[in-house]
Amino acid sequence: METTHFVTGATGFVGSALVLRLLAEQGNTIVCGARAKDRDQARIRVESALREAARLAGRELEAGELARVSPVVFDLAGGLATTVDRAPVHAMWHVAAAQRTEEQYRAELARTNVTGTQTAFEVARAAGARRFCFVSDASSALVATEGAVAFERACDPLAVTEPYHRSKLEAEQWLLAQRGGPRLAIFRCVTPVGHSKTGEAFARRGLDRFAHELRLLRDLMTDQHMGSFLAHRAVNLRANGQAFFHALPVDLLADAMARIEASGSESSIFHVANATPPRVELVFRRLFFAMGWCAPNFNVAEKHFTTLDEHLDKAWARYHGAYARPLEIAQPATLAALGGAIEHGIVTASTMGEPRPSIVQAGAD
Ligand SMILES: NC(=O)c1ccc[n+]([C@@H]2O[C@H](COP(=O)([O-])OP(=O)(O)OC[C@H]3O[C@@H](n4cnc5c(N)ncnc54)[C@H](OP(=O)(O)O)[C@@H]3O)[C@@H](O)[C@H]2O)c1
Repeated sequence: METTHFVTGATGFVGSALVLRLLAEQGNTIVCGARAKDRDQARIRVESALREAARLAGRELEAGELARVSPVVFDLAGGLATTVDRAPVHAMWHVAAAQRTEEQYRAELARTNVTGTQTAFEVARAAGARRFCFVSDASSALVATEGAVAFERACDPLAVTEPYHRSKLEAEQWLLAQRGGPRLAIFRCVTPVGHSKTGEAFARRGLDRFAHELRLLRDLMTDQHMGSFLAHRAVNLRANGQAFFHALPVDLLADAMARIEASGSESSIFHVANATPPRVELVFRRLFFAMGWCAPNFNVAEKHFTTLDEHLDKAWARYHGAYARPLEIAQPATLAALGGAIEHGIVTASTMGEPRPSIVQAGAD
């Protein structure tokens, strides 16, 4: 029997990986929401994103997979495509979100991530969806956490000032207050990094974006004839080196979410996280080593930050809160639904955009 899923944000890093994962089940057809002026453009954008996602997985997109994809125009900020011609939808996966962290985007973040989620929920309800799967952010829960462990339960958005995290938690809060309509599954995901097989990443998000800044800085320094300066002078970063580096390859995130949804678990909040995360210090040491630089310093007083330090640290700013303390992520509902923990070494070479076989095992040095 054919089962229809609706995925928003299908042109993004997580969304495209999720669509590929859902397509792995032969009976699934996927309605893919994409920002576009019309359906033809939506088709081109979705197809190109899925081809790229398949390439990251080290393969090609098959014609049989594409035939089970139905793109629709979907914009959270202005009129939605409310007609889902493949209804009833089994599950609506709301992945799309704005991810700017700066204060000047507060209103846009509220519109896209909070009001947009409310509208997406109404679309799901109208399409007869049984489940509304909301992709949220574990960093938001970590930032809102007061103790040393983030639990799979509601967080108070007022505990967070940073506008992106606040918007994700406000969307969660609104969804948790709904009665009737599709059953809720909130997936609080850790930072998605490169594919577990190839190590390659799709978008300049998360650690990949930071690694991109590192490469730009390396190129700039080469242009300025600064040679191997950073091989001798460590930069300062705002983070706790002993914090856990909460990240997972994007395909493992997608796989875990699909399996949790299919498990029929009655829980509403799931933390999709690596059970054996490495420490921030280790991951950064590897990243900087790959650039030919010495390891960065952590926990350095503000007065010692130079312009160079500030430049690099800005690219890392959205993670300051999450990596300020060595926080653990509790996963009882996730473990029960999956029947075990997700464990994976982080492929740091992936974050450099240069796939290499060297896999850094979690916790290894
Ligand atoms: N990256 C992280 O570190 C991280 C960590 C945990 C959770 N998450 C969550 O994971 C989800 C996906 O993140 P990602 O890393 O895959 O980001 P991404 O690659 O930037 O993808 C974002 C997706 O959302 C779509 N989108 C943005 N604004 C939209 C709007 N107004 N209307 C319709 N679609 C819109 C984008 O469409 P366009 O192609 O048109 O731009 C894109 O498809 C988000 O909900 C995010 O909060 C991310």
